[in-house]
Formats: sequence, structure tokens, C-alpha cells
Amino acid sequence: MRKGISVSYSLDVFLEPYAFKQNLAADVRRGLTAPQKYLLPKYFYDDAGSKLFDRITELPEYYLTRTEQHLFSSVKPHILKATRPQEVVELGCGNGDKFRWLLHAARDREISAYIPMDMNAGLVESVARDLVRDYPFLAVHGIVGDFETHLAHIPPPKGRRLVTFMGSTIGNLGPEQRKGFIAQLRCLLDEGSHALIGLDLVKDAGMLEAAYNDQAGVTADFNRNILLVLNRELAGDFRPETFTHHAFFNREASRIEMHLVSRKEQQVRLAALEMQAAFQSDETIWTESSYKFTVGMVEEMLAAGGLRLEQWYTDEAGWYALALIGTA
Ligand code: SAH
Ligand code: AVI
Repeated sequence: MRKGISVSYSLDVFLEPYAFKQNLAADVRRGLTAPQKYLLPKYFYDDAGSKLFDRITELPEYYLTRTEQHLFSSVKPHILKATRPQEVVELGCGNGDKFRWLLHAARDREISAYIPMDMNAGLVESVARDLVRDYPFLAVHGIVGDFETHLAHIPPPKGRRLVTFMGSTIGNLGPEQRKGFIAQLRCLLDEGSHALIGLDLVKDAGMLEAAYNDQAGVTADFNRNILLVLNRELAGDFRPETFTHHAFFNREASRIEMHLVSRKEQQVRLAALEMQAAFQSDETIWTESSYKFTVGMVEEMLAAGGLRLEQWYTDEAGWYALALIGTA
């Protein structure tokens, strides 16, 4: 328990720095020895990566965050009427802005508890600290953990619960990972609880590709930042400037793929893993998938996990959706 002057929050850490490093080490060894080299996108978000992501959300080309915000503000009365949340669990909370949208829209003090979860401990702490300072009536219980493996540690609902998973972060999970995630999400919901998931939708390739290839190069910096994470955490000697950012829409698989392309033949050493990775010129590391959805894909994914799509809200242009989900 951290004590402020008059308010406090609680914090549970299920991903200690040591466990984080062990997981990272195993994932990186697996990823960099695979025929198509890959890294998992959850490792983008150290402090520098989280700040770069915040900058991405403000780019003219990155329509996702703005569209989600506009959509949310037009449908919030329906969402709040249908869910009447007393407790909000937010997965991948990031900077916590999205919970503030909800809190401001809800009836005065109806939401009395907030459980933010993220892998980045600093984010969870600062979100919790700032919220109890700004809203002293709010009980905040931060959870530092991986939403793919630690959802079972989230305490049972104490009132009507709403689980939010915003920003289309669900799109960064592959189909098999999504299945596992939805099955665990089901366990967080009792009768009367709901989930609200933000989803980016399939659309014109040009618009999708522009969102992941911004003119200012912030997404490229975000992409290369993962190599700096590996250098720091695993004593690597990646030279990020020798890798270029490449992002394209793979329509068949319904995803943006983000890669780092080695500009030359080179060897990279990761001293903490006692391994070398050899790169051909133009060989890529696949660093992220960002799946784009249709309502059919979402219904199918929910039904397989014992959940039900209660409402499907989209903006006028049909770029983005908020799925309000109940237990089946
Ligand atoms: N929800 C916010 C932030 C999205 S960025 C928004 O909509 O703007 C994705 C966030 O999810 C980051 O803060 C990152 O640290 C977190 N994250 C990514 N993978 C995660 C995982 N497996 N477990 C927990 N948090 C994760
Ligand atoms: C957090 N996530 C949904 C973002 C996305 O769009 O896939 C991360 C991101 N990657 C590149 N730009 C933004």
C-alpha cells in the first residue's frame, strides 16, 4: 500500500522485473531462432515505447484513438445505461486516459472502484497515483501483470463490473492467443457484468497503411525501440539505425504486419542469452501484427468463448467499433 497525504491505492505485482526478464529472454530466444524471426509486441512498451505510443495516438494518420474517442462520446449514454458499472477493470490501461472518459461520463460517484492492469509497472503506478489524487472517493487497485497469463489474479467482482480493453489492443493478439484471452476474460465476468472492447475494422489498405507509416516517422521509432529494449535488458548490440521500418496490410490474414528490415548482412550478439543472431541483407524481424476485424469475426470469437455480443457500435464511416459484450 502506497500512502499519499490523504489517499492511497493498492498495487499487486505479478510480473516482477526478474520474471519479466526471464520471460523476455525465453521469448527472444524462440523468436530470433525461428525461420521467420519475430519479437512479441508486448515488449515495445518500456517507458520510452509507451511515450512513443502516446505520440502515435496524436498523429494525423493514426485515426484509431481519435475515432474511438468520438465514437465513445456519442454512445456513452447507451453504454452506461446498459452496464451501470460500479467497478471498472481496464486491461492494457496505458496512460489511463480512457478510464477518465468513462468516469466523466458516469453518474456522480457511481463508479467507485478501478482496477487498472498493464505490464508496465511505472504506468500502473502513475495512473493509480494520479487517479486517487484527482478522485479521492475512488478505490484503485493497480495490477502489474500480463493480460495473457495473469487475468486469474484479478479479484472477483464486488459490484456490477465493466471490463474495458480499448485501443484495439486485442488486435495485437493472433487468433490462437485471442481464443485463450477470451476464455480467461469470461472468467472475470459474472452475471450482470459486461466487457467493452475497442476494435479497428477492415478497410481500405491505403488508409490502414498510412496509419502505420506516418510521415513524421514516429511509428518507425516505436518499432526500432524494441531493439533498444533488447540491448538494455539482454545486453544486446543491435544497431537500430541498420534496421528500417516496414508496415503493410496483409488482406488475406486481415492484419497490418510490422517488420524491421536488416539493411545489411550482420551478426547481432545478445550477451545475456549467450547467443548470436545472423541476419541476411533484407531479412526481417516481424515485430507486430495488428488485426483488423469484421463483426462476423468478433461474433465468432465471442461465441467460441461463451460470450455474447450485446451491442455493436461503429462510427459513421465504419472505421472502428466498440463491442459491448455480455455473458452468453
Ligand atoms: N489502452 C490504451 C493503451 C494501448 S497501448 C489505449 O487504448 O490507448 C497497449 C498497452 O497495453 C500498453 O500500455 C502496454 O504496456 C499494454 N500491454 C501490451 N501487451 C500487454 C500484455 N500482454 N499484458 C499487459 N499489458 C500489455
Ligand atoms: C496498441 N496497438 C493497438 C497499436 C496498434 O495499432 O496495433 C500499437 C501500434 N503499433 C503501431 N502503431 C500503433
